[in-house]
Amino acid sequence: MKILGIETSCDETAVSVVEDGCYILSNVIASQVELHARYGGIVPEVASRQHILEIIPTIQSAIGQAGIGFDSLDAVAVTKGPGLAGALLVGVNAAKAMAFARDLPLIGVNHLEGHIYANWLEGRDPEVEAGFPLMCLITSGGHTDLVLMSGHGSYRLLGRTRDDAAGEAFDKAARVLGLGYPGGPAVQHAAEYAKGTEILPRAWLRGTLDFSFSGIKTALLNKAKSKGIYPRTEDTVIDQEFVAEIAYAFQLSVADVMVTKALRASKEYRCKGMLLGGGVAANSMLRRLFEEKTETPLFIPSPRLCTDNGAMIAASAYFMWNSYDGDGWDMDVYPSLKLGMDIETAQESN
Ligand code: KG4
Ligand code: ZN
Repeated sequence: MKILGIETSCDETAVSVVEDGCYILSNVIASQVELHARYGGIVPEVASRQHILEIIPTIQSAIGQAGIGFDSLDAVAVTKGPGLAGALLVGVNAAKAMAFARDLPLIGVNHLEGHIYANWLEGRDPEVEAGFPLMCLITSGGHTDLVLMSGHGSYRLLGRTRDDAAGEAFDKAARVLGLGYPGGPAVQHAAEYAKGTEILPRAWLRGTLDFSFSGIKTALLNKAKSKGIYPRTEDTVIDQEFVAEIAYAFQLSVADVMVTKALRASKEYRCKGMLLGGGVAANSMLRRLFEEKTETPLFIPSPRLCTDNGAMIAASAYFMWNSYDGDGWDMDVYPSLKLGMDIETAQESN
């Protein structure tokens, strides 16, 4: 079964063809990173306009690179939320047009579920190798969620961030340190040669599985101010060694909290495996800490499948196929969609 997966929830126009939920035939990503870099963050209107320009050529490339014709597709899957409303609309309308023109089923996918299913695209099957229940940490620019997955399509949100998402905190930290956008890869790169001499606090929120990253971010801001590197003027002299050390300390604090809480939750709920997903799961320190400390089978997508892509949307659609009751042609976009949320509640949340 070949599914076309379309993802436009944020700043990547991404389209992929996936066979049987696990074999990637093509995975095309038109990134808008350079476009938004000059603003230091994503500008929603700019993102929507760029999706409009990119969506048709990206679909054509994905079909071309898969070496198939449109006639070989069995379904069209698309992210329906959460994300930026204007950006989501471009993908959803393109998907509707394609599905309608080719008389194909249309499947609306939750972006967060996509990040989980990226783990089925790496030649491993977490259900076979570990079994349910699985503990999932989705850590991205918009979310930091701990989710108990007790079967395909069956989720329970156990913890979430109370303020910034981990990726958002990385992006803000990078801005303070003058490292550019997107912040995650920039902070990771800056921290490469650090010795570990700086320390930043951790927010444990004991007794809950929630997260908070705004305190760490403020501590970093205060250190940057006291070192005289923020706010930055033309006369500011940057102490590169300090930047490396503080970037390292920031990564360690954020990663330590996520690893500790995710593994505690996994034990508490007797999970058979640990799954990661989302852009921050590309972080090398986070990956290393999970590899060192996880006692059950661990699944982390390769970095290119941690960040937004169409393959994860197509994979999700494959696994929800049997239980899918369909969104129909009136499918809307749901900017605040949560995992496991039914359509009526999603509509009310719009
Ligand atoms: O999943 P994603 O591509 O988009 C959302 O769904 O939000 O995640 C993007 C986020 C950005 O905040 C970016 O800075 C972060 O993932 N990110 C990283 C790394 N690569 C991307 N954060 C830490 N380390 C990385 N290597
Ligand atoms: Zn994402």
